[in-house]
Amino acid sequence: MKKFIKNLPKAELHLHIEGSFEPELMFKIAKRNSIKIPFNSVKEIENAYKFNCLQDFLDIYYQGAQVLITEQDFYDLTFSYLQKCNEQNVRHTEIMFDPQTHTERGISFATVINGISKAQKDAKEQFGITSLLIMSYLRHLSEEDAFKTLEQSLPFKDLITCVGLDSSEKGNPPSKFKNVFKKSEEVGYIPVAHAGEEGNADYVWEALDLLNIKRIDHGNNALQDKKLIAEIIKRDLALTVCPLSNTALQVVTDLKEHPLKEMMNLGLKVTINSDDPAFFGGQVNQNYIEIQKALDLTKEDLYELAKNSFQYSFLDKETKEKYLTELEMYFEKNK
Ligand code: HPA
Ligand code: ZN
Repeated sequence: MKKFIKNLPKAELHLHIEGSFEPELMFKIAKRNSIKIPFNSVKEIENAYKFNCLQDFLDIYYQGAQVLITEQDFYDLTFSYLQKCNEQNVRHTEIMFDPQTHTERGISFATVINGISKAQKDAKEQFGITSLLIMSYLRHLSEEDAFKTLEQSLPFKDLITCVGLDSSEKGNPPSKFKNVFKKSEEVGYIPVAHAGEEGNADYVWEALDLLNIKRIDHGNNALQDKKLIAEIIKRDLALTVCPLSNTALQVVTDLKEHPLKEMMNLGLKVTINSDDPAFFGGQVNQNYIEIQKALDLTKEDLYELAKNSFQYSFLDKETKEKYLTELEMYFEKNK
């Protein structure tokens, strides 16, 4: 089964580039920029990665991102993640980045996006991996701040496909960002949002009705509401589920109790993703491996999950078809 997963062509649709920052690279870049971090070794960092909730994690995640200063730093971060994609047969990835985490510290929007997009271009040339960008607004900041970010993004519009919403969910409902999402959609960005990770089903309703999202990040708590489940199916929206993130942040107590299979049985379109792989104990393949084992998923289940990952990506029709054909051939040969 591990081999089947390893070679399975797949897409990753929920990945924060700042969350892919491995301790080794963090040390290297911190040293290069003469920045002190409050850890002395990779081991110390790994020991600090024990979280009781989303906020616990976010505090340490934003701290780590502070060592990123130059375009080269953003390039190295992104290219390192894309190399891992190549090793895992991730054929396509939709990368979230948090501009405000960096612009707040005086790093320019151009530095961030130029570094990231150069790495995307090189990975396409070297590995054939396609990728696109989701610019995510930090929901603990104001809508006014998000508007500023939208403004800063306009000269780089061609490099960005979607807008997203991440960071501390509770107390920061989607309604807070209604106007900036409306404007973002008007300029051509596709809206997605984290919803129902720690927030309840009402937050998912708001993301659907007020932000007009085209995909739901996490969405676990949508299961609290039957009408909502029916609405998600009616709108044909996929959920980007992140199993190891859910256990790391205590959204789910044990993988054996993870609702992924229940979601699939209800007719929801689910995908498997790593979220913040450097912090949650595994890349996307490790997420497939561990959830397969915990829920005793079949090869057909895994095929369906990988199929959804391409089907519900924001790729053009032709590229989607190409990947789906590749996947189908793989499944027919290895089932
Ligand atoms: N949830 C909310 N915000 C985030 C996450 C997450 O899982 N990862 C990085 N920012
Ligand atoms: Zn996330």
